[in-house]
Amino acid sequence: ASLLPRDELLFSYNGTLYPVTICSPETFRALESFESRSDDVILAGYPKSGTNWLSQILTDLINISEKKTQDGESGVNDEELEFPYLEVGDAKKYERMTKLRSPRFMVTHLCPENLPKSIFKNKVKILLLIRNPKDLATSFYHFSNGLSILPSYETWDDFFTDFMTKKVVWGSYFEYLSKWNNYADEENVMTITYEELKENPVVGVKNIAAFLGISVTEEELQLVVERSSFQSMKKNSQKTHGALGNVLFRKGAVSDWKNLFSEDQNEKMDKAFEEYVGGTKLGKKLKYEVY
Ligand code: A3P
Repeated sequence: ASLLPRDELLFSYNGTLYPVTICSPETFRALESFESRSDDVILAGYPKSGTNWLSQILTDLINISEKKTQDGESGVNDEELEFPYLEVGDAKKYERMTKLRSPRFMVTHLCPENLPKSIFKNKVKILLLIRNPKDLATSFYHFSNGLSILPSYETWDDFFTDFMTKKVVWGSYFEYLSKWNNYADEENVMTITYEELKENPVVGVKNIAAFLGISVTEEELQLVVERSSFQSMKKNSQKTHGALGNVLFRKGAVSDWKNLFSEDQNEKMDKAFEEYVGGTKLGKKLKYEVY
């Protein structure tokens, strides 16, 4: 949480707010002419949808596949992979990214229309991660209060208002879902939900591996699932994410929203959800609890 006023922490670009410490208009301008490669893989997820979790899964799957190619052995290479956040960093980063070997993996919180055109032209593989908006907002609220680059909130009600009126970084989650919904049927886009990964990680990881064309044995699958469990990731978080680890790996559960939402907020969110994505492919995929 930061004590600095909002307008010193955030800036607006094309009507959407971003944190000044990690994003800049220069980088957004440079991103427009980013050249993708047809074998790039993009992990797309709005903040707090579980992007770090899926990054861990992808890292292990890639390492498994590379270990096989290198020495024909089964197992996981414990290699750190470069996993750039597309829109985060300085404007020179895209030049540096041309030096990364293929396949390049990257993460983004952006809506499709804010992504470089070349990504869609080249039919880059996109793994779209979505999470139910109630748990996502809950996670976002705690994260805002735990992270110095984001505004802090005295009350959950204040955060809820900002979340519903596009006053949080990366804009409206409902618009995000509705815009990505237009791409949900494309062959190069695979949608996965936080809830289904939580409910059945083995099936989730298997589907992701298949989408990426990586073959895994049952044993390797179990290993990836174990290494990406909330408990393992939380335990390792100091090493993998430093001080951020404690804030990032908070609860890792479905339906924590029930501890924060009032009846009125619950109705408001259901209404917005219905309005933007009710009955759509993505809308139908999201669940508010798992058993
Ligand atoms: P909570 O705040 O609800 O706990 P992101 O990585 O996109 O910032 O998302 C963070 C959310 O994903 C946090 O949610 C975090 O706990 C959760 N998360 C991280 N790793 C996870 C894992 N291995 N399993 C389940 N949830 C995980």
